Amino acid sequence: MRGFVTDATVPGGLRLTDGLPEPAPAPHEAVVEVRAFSLNHDEANLIRRRPHGWRPGQDTAGVVVRAAADGTGPREGTRVVAYMDWEGWCERIPIAGHRTAVLPDEVSFEQAATLPVAGLTALRALRVGGALLGRNVLVTGASGGVGQFAVQLAVASGARVTAHVTRPERAAEVRALGAHHVVTSLAENAENAEGGEGGGVFGPPGPSEPSDSYRPSGPFHLALDGIGGPLLPQVMHRMAPGATTVLYGNIGGPAEVRILDFAGYAPNSRLMGLVSPIPDETKGEDLAILVALIADGRLTPRIGLRDTWDRTPEAFAALAARAFRGKAVLVLP
Ligand SMILES: NC(=O)c1ccc[n+]([C@@H]2O[C@H](COP(=O)([O-])OP(=O)(O)OC[C@H]3O[C@@H](n4cnc5c(N)ncnc54)[C@H](OP(=O)(O)O)[C@@H]3O)[C@@H](O)[C@H]2O)c1
Repeated sequence: MRGFVTDATVPGGLRLTDGLPEPAPAPHEAVVEVRAFSLNHDEANLIRRRPHGWRPGQDTAGVVVRAAADGTGPREGTRVVAYMDWEGWCERIPIAGHRTAVLPDEVSFEQAATLPVAGLTALRALRVGGALLGRNVLVTGASGGVGQFAVQLAVASGARVTAHVTRPERAAEVRALGAHHVVTSLAENAENAEGGEGGGVFGPPGPSEPSDSYRPSGPFHLALDGIGGPLLPQVMHRMAPGATTVLYGNIGGPAEVRILDFAGYAPNSRLMGLVSPIPDETKGEDLAILVALIADGRLTPRIGLRDTWDRTPEAFAALAARAFRGKAVLVLP
């Protein structure tokens, strides 16, 4: 069977090989023929850290070619999305029903493959804020794999969404996702595009937006931050008292947080570290929620790079260079 293994001697640390064993499913696992998969930021780190011959791959979509022996899970011929721990980037995978969701015809393998890690991170992080109707929500890294889902899901929940992006050119794309405000800085001394107080540089209002939506938003009821570093305390300074900042990544480096970051700004606000694969047993349920949102048009995964699966190392290089926005999807023949 063909699939990817780690190999420190080749560029990108990843090699496509023909020598993999066929899946040996447990009684509660089906075998899925993989049609598409997507990449996640941390998988690049795993490929560097794990030993030679390790098999990466979490986000997969495909067709069940053998149902689970114990009769649970999807039947043969069912199109599914699957959330693997690893070993997903190969032709066939064993997968338990509680980690899969069935795909309706309207949802493509490519769209579905974007969902497991990034989609569940956004969904589960937003749940921390409870009912979001009318609430102010901040999403940092809004053009990224997780961020683009978080913006759309927060908007679908009725929140007023402020999207933080790294540069003004990104404003239009996050507005297209539904963001009500766009900022490029959260520093207290930053000027916005109208020269007003705080909030950074704001993108121009969307065509249907009143000009007052150009004003800085917040304080925030909920913030989702996958960047950390110096941005995290700036996010916390924008929170309402008692509000919650969900930290799920530190792509911007380690963060330093002091009690004054709470007391001086948003007393008794909370900082939560989200480990999105937990709980494992409801991954399939959560994937089904996201699949249904795609099917009814309320969620559109942003696929910034599409390629054939043999070009996975090149796709990782593009991810590292931030050469595309949203998700990278690789397709099997
Ligand atoms: N805790 C969990 O369970 C969990 C789950 C998923 C992801 N994560 C982590 O969350 C982070 C984001 O994941 P992702 O998949 O969304 O990554 P991604 O697709 O690479 O997107 C990263 C986003 O962050 C922005 N960004 C990158 N470096 C930045 C910096 N130094 N300062 C400000 N913004 C920066 C990028 O903006 P540009 O596009 O403008 O460069 C982009 O919008 C990663 O660290 C990942 O490992 C954790």
